[in-house]
Amino acid sequence: MYAAWTLKHKPTSLAQVVGNKEAIQKFVDWVKSWEKGVPKKRAAFFYGPPGIGKTVTVEAFANDSRMELVEKNASDYRTEDAINRFAGLASQYGSLFGVKRIVLLDELDGLTGTADRGGVKAITDIAKNAQVPIVLIANNAYDPRFSNLRNYCLLIQFKKPPAGEVMKHLRRICESEEIQVEENALKFIAQRSEGDVRSAVNDFQALAQGKRKLIYEDVSWLAYRDRQESIFSVLRMIIYGRTCSSAKRAVDMADVDIDMLFEWIYENAPAHLTDPHDLVRAMDSLSMADVYRGRIRSTRDWSFTRYVIDFMTAGVAMARQNTKASGWIPFKFPQRIQMLSRSKAQRAMQLNIGYKIKRKCHISAVRASKEFLPYLRIIFKNNAEMAAGLAKWLDLDQKMIEHLASSEEKAKAIAELVR
Ligand SMILES: Nc1ncnc2c1ncn2[C@@H]1O[C@H](COP(=O)(O)OP(=O)(O)OP(=O)(O)O)[C@@H](O)[C@H]1O
Ligand SMILES: [Mg+2]
Repeated sequence: MYAAWTLKHKPTSLAQVVGNKEAIQKFVDWVKSWEKGVPKKRAAFFYGPPGIGKTVTVEAFANDSRMELVEKNASDYRTEDAINRFAGLASQYGSLFGVKRIVLLDELDGLTGTADRGGVKAITDIAKNAQVPIVLIANNAYDPRFSNLRNYCLLIQFKKPPAGEVMKHLRRICESEEIQVEENALKFIAQRSEGDVRSAVNDFQALAQGKRKLIYEDVSWLAYRDRQESIFSVLRMIIYGRTCSSAKRAVDMADVDIDMLFEWIYENAPAHLTDPHDLVRAMDSLSMADVYRGRIRSTRDWSFTRYVIDFMTAGVAMARQNTKASGWIPFKFPQRIQMLSRSKAQRAMQLNIGYKIKRKCHISAVRASKEFLPYLRIIFKNNAEMAAGLAKWLDLDQKMIEHLASSEEKAKAIAELVR
């Protein structure tokens, strides 16, 4: 079973939380000030964008200082009643065993609608009267709903950590997972995440899990990729879809084109459909989708698209009959696309040689690169003289000769003869 790296490598100590040093210090000082008596502001209000360590800061701190953490999030306090039920925890000093307590009300943004008006008021009452440190967390503390609540809180802003800090966290994961990662690959992932540590870790896991080594080319192709959240939820809708129509609807949500979506489904269905019969059905369906893709390519008749979509979405969704949605299985990026983009430079080179052949032999460059190249390779590897003659005749440049000879030494020898 896979564990999400955001959980597996979640900081257990403040020393492992990256970025936001000032905010964290402000928080630590405030909690310490409780030792001298109840401070003026009894609640701290953390706010800032998602995935940057707000929640984890409180958890790591409680762990470091061996405080009891009472943690609730929006689903626990949907109503005023629910809040009042645990308000008692906030009004008693310490816990049963004399351990100091800290109460965390997370995801305040989750309180929505008029039904929760009372909720915010009940939280405000807790903040006013608390006997232990209360931490409130929301993405936006300046929501008008919180205007009164804010008066009773020490506001602490969390900002997106810079890429260098995100890299620190990724490096810690590399060490623990024993993966060797090129520095610029890490940098690429960190920069792409734009300070969202959670999404950086998710990206990193999808790319690196099960590998010993990760190089820049393994990640750079991501630049073409759309936001992962959307594609992940689209995949979930398809593979775990319960109706044909919901699985088909996923296509409209996907930011990627049909061919790319096909690659995503093809890559991920096997890991998710653990029942072999389900998988057979899904693969059958995907192969049908691929047949129609081929027809579109050869006839240019785009009306076949609807069959491609039906087979690859509804077909795959209906294939799942025995597999239960159990545990957490990460989605992986399509390897085929990854390989294509990795070999892009090579393919470009082959095509360029194809153009040279085309000029002399009057066949298409693509055909030339497919049909002639293998023979040229054999010649260039084994017969420098003949290779030199061909290189001259075809007007190949040094790079092309190197490509065909696949060794610098041989290429040099051939180039000598050309001159
Ligand atoms: N600053 C950080 N240092 C180390 N790990 C982090 C940091 N920020 C996030 N993470 C990782 O991402 C996960 C999610 O972080 P956390 O729950 O603290 O985000 P958050 O800021 O509370 O986001 P949200 O607003 O969505 O609740 C953590 O479990 C951890 O693995
Ligand atoms: Mg959080």
